[in-house]
Formats: sequence, C-alpha cells, structure tokens
Amino acid sequence: MISNRVTKLPKGTTYNFVIGHLNSEIKEGYKVLETGCGATLYRDVVKSLEAIYIGTDVPNQHYGNLQTLDSFCSAENLPFADGSIDIVFNQGAIDYMPDLPATLQDAYRVLAPGGKMIIYTYRKDILEMIHENVMATARDWELQHHVFSTQELLDHLAQAGFRAKDVSFELKSWEPGYNIQRISEIAGIYSFFNRQRTRWRVFVADKLV
Ligand SMILES: C[S@@+](CC[C@H](N)C(=O)[O-])C[C@H]1O[C@@H](n2cnc3c(N)ncnc32)[C@H](O)[C@@H]1O
Repeated sequence: MISNRVTKLPKGTTYNFVIGHLNSEIKEGYKVLETGCGATLYRDVVKSLEAIYIGTDVPNQHYGNLQTLDSFCSAENLPFADGSIDIVFNQGAIDYMPDLPATLQDAYRVLAPGGKMIIYTYRKDILEMIHENVMATARDWELQHHVFSTQELLDHLAQAGFRAKDVSFELKSWEPGYNIQRISEIAGIYSFFNRQRTRWRVFVADKLV
C-alpha cells in the first residue's frame, strides 16, 4: 500500500571517495547524467570540473528541494537522445530502480561510444538491511527495492552491452573521519580496513567504441 505520509528526508550525503572518483573520470565539456539524484548533491562537483550536470529522478515528495532537478523521468526511460551523454552515474539509487535490466539498457543507449556508467551502491549485506526497512515502511518511491550480489550486477551490465568491472577496493570508500583515515593510511593498515569496513561497492561500466 502506498503511504500518504510526507516524510522529509535529510538531503543525503556526499562522499569524498565519490567526489575523488568523479574528479578522475569527468573531463571538461562532458555531459554527465545523474539518475535517481535526489537532492542533486553532486551538481556543484560536476560543474566545478567545467562539465554539464543533468540531474534526474522520479517525482519523489520526500526530498525537500526537487526544484533543483533538471528532468523528472525514470532511469528506465530517459528523455535523451541515443549517444548523447558521456557519463551516467548514480549513488545509492540503482537498488530502487524497479527494472534493473531496463535501467542499464537505457543508460547504455544514451551513452556515447566510449562513455561510462558508474554505479555507487551499497554492499550486499547493507542492501539486505535496507530491503527489510523498505518492506516495513513502503513509501511511494520505495515500492521496489532490490538486493544483488556483485556477480549479479556484473552479469546485468554485461547483458546490457557494457564491459564492466568492480573497482570497489581501488577507491578509499571507508571514511571513518579524517584523523582515523590518515593515521591508518600512515600505519599502512588503511586498505585492510577499507575492505572490511566500507559499506560501498563501485562499478565502472564502459560502452565500447
Ligand atoms: C536512497 S535515494 C538516493 C538519492 C541520492 N542519489 C542520494 O544519494 O542522496 C534513492 C533514489 O532513487 C530514486 N528512484 C526510485 N525509482 C527510480 C526510477 N525508476 N528512476 C530514477 N530514480 C528512481 C528515488 O526517487 C530516490 O531519489
């Protein structure tokens, strides 16, 4: 049943590892599409790289400032021309998109040859916790929520035509706070904790030329 309650969510969180990764992938003049963007948290990051940011999401009354969106649309049916985008990315959102194969196929369609899809998604055990919570609350934008293994997502990406890889442990996605992170880096134990403690998985999928 769809809940009529309007719960204002916090605006969401930007992560340093996402900002760093976007910095390494986005070039000046790129068209960068964020799907399931919520409060368009990464608009300024993309703009600071002299690239064009396009934030899209389905109508979602739970975010306070949706007037910042560029287009209301489902990630499964994007209103953009074939081959018109350089990077499609999303953070903590792919698990909410009802039809994963259709979502990946449409990202593939709008990407230019040589373009990339980047997915920042939670670890499987975290998705399982979210799933339990979603099933209990059933807010309008959460009626679907998926849990997938790394291999399942890689298989879906391959079926959509991408050459995809899991780069989770190449990025510093364990962010315990600046001091602890720096001390563990200096002590040489950061990568161990990064693998053990990060809540994130990161996938980079290339649309080959
Ligand atoms: C947990 S929120 C994450 C929002 C934002 N990316 C962030 O990190 O703050 C999940 C988002 O997925 C969006 N979503 C759900 N179904 C979608 C669909 N079919 N197409 C695009 N976005 C969708 C929701 O509206 C919501 O904004």
